[in-house]
Amino acid sequence: MTSLEMETTDINLVQTHIPKEDVDDAVFLSWKDLWVTVRDGRHGSRSILQGLTAYAQPGELLAIMGPSGCGKSTLLDALAGRLNSNTIQVREVLINGHKQALAYGTTAYVTQDDNLVATLTVREAVYYSAQLQLPDSMSNSEKKERAERTIREMGLQDAMNTRIGGWGAKGLSGGQKRRVSICIEILTHPKLLFLDEPTSGLDSAASYYIMSRIASLGRNDGIRRTIIFSIHQPSSEVFQLFNNLCLLSSGKMVYFGPASAANEFFTLNGFPCPTYQNHSDHFLKTINKDFGRVSYVNQSIIYIFFFKTIMKIAAKLGEGEVPYI
Ligand SMILES: Nc1ncnc2c1ncn2[C@@H]1O[C@H](COP(=O)(O)OP(=O)(O)OP(=O)(O)O)[C@@H](O)[C@H]1O
Ligand SMILES: [Mg+2]
Repeated sequence: MTSLEMETTDINLVQTHIPKEDVDDAVFLSWKDLWVTVRDGRHGSRSILQGLTAYAQPGELLAIMGPSGCGKSTLLDALAGRLNSNTIQVREVLINGHKQALAYGTTAYVTQDDNLVATLTVREAVYYSAQLQLPDSMSNSEKKERAERTIREMGLQDAMNTRIGGWGAKGLSGGQKRRVSICIEILTHPKLLFLDEPTSGLDSAASYYIMSRIASLGRNDGIRRTIIFSIHQPSSEVFQLFNNLCLLSSGKMVYFGPASAANEFFTLNGFPCPTYQNHSDHFLKTINKDFGRVSYVNQSIIYIFFFKTIMKIAAKLGEGEVPYI
């Protein structure tokens, strides 16, 4: 048995310990050795995600980063249970240590593409969505109030009466549309929130604004929310908001652990970030396999990082902090 296999076996032996009060009002998500394979027509099948092991905790932000096409959206889809029908998933995603379904309104997913009705204004889109999603026990005025507060939270108050617009009829900017999509999904105050590239189309100031709003959602409504999102090119300010980071390259996990420890990790493995360079840019440049020049180096660090990540998770599991069976 190799040392990597031994570490993986250790994870299987770890007992679960979840405080009762946390189980009642929070969502711990964990996945181990998760594979997603796609049937590729006549050419057989192709593995998009290969043996991913990680977790997401309540009250924390987990960022999924990696080069385009590495499997970020596929991972989010697998975690949210919404994979395409031509894919096969091996291993389950556990909620609070068990295979279970979440109640309606507990989870929300902001997709990578905005699906909005072009002829509605921002106020109408969010308000109609509130009418449809919020329970009958809430009065109309409460729903309206919730809709308007959410619009303000996302900084869209000046665009309230602007039409969303679409092909052939210009309305909101791309970044504003992203924010409307987020508004619609957070209306129900979900405990588990997935966001696929919430900051695409936004400048760095707007990205920071949106991500800090997302990070502070829990402080405003008192819910210890589990937030998982994919993101491209975060500025260093945005990066500092992340609690945990999952770095993917060609469907494999290169790093999983505290975002603040990733730089040290790269340095220890012989890839220090040059002075004055954004850390996340450096990580992506180092692990990008799309361009041949760096592929040889990447093959070797992927193994080292994956091994170390497994060791870290095993250590954390040993402390009884993570719900895992
Ligand atoms: N249902 C599917 N059928 C066929 N191929 C798929 C399917 N889903 C994903 N893929 C392939 O898997 C790979 C990963 O796709 P995915 O959308 O997860 O990447 P990504 O990291 O989100 O990329 P981006 O940053 O560009 O959004 C791509 O090569 C994509 O073509
Ligand atoms: Mg994607």
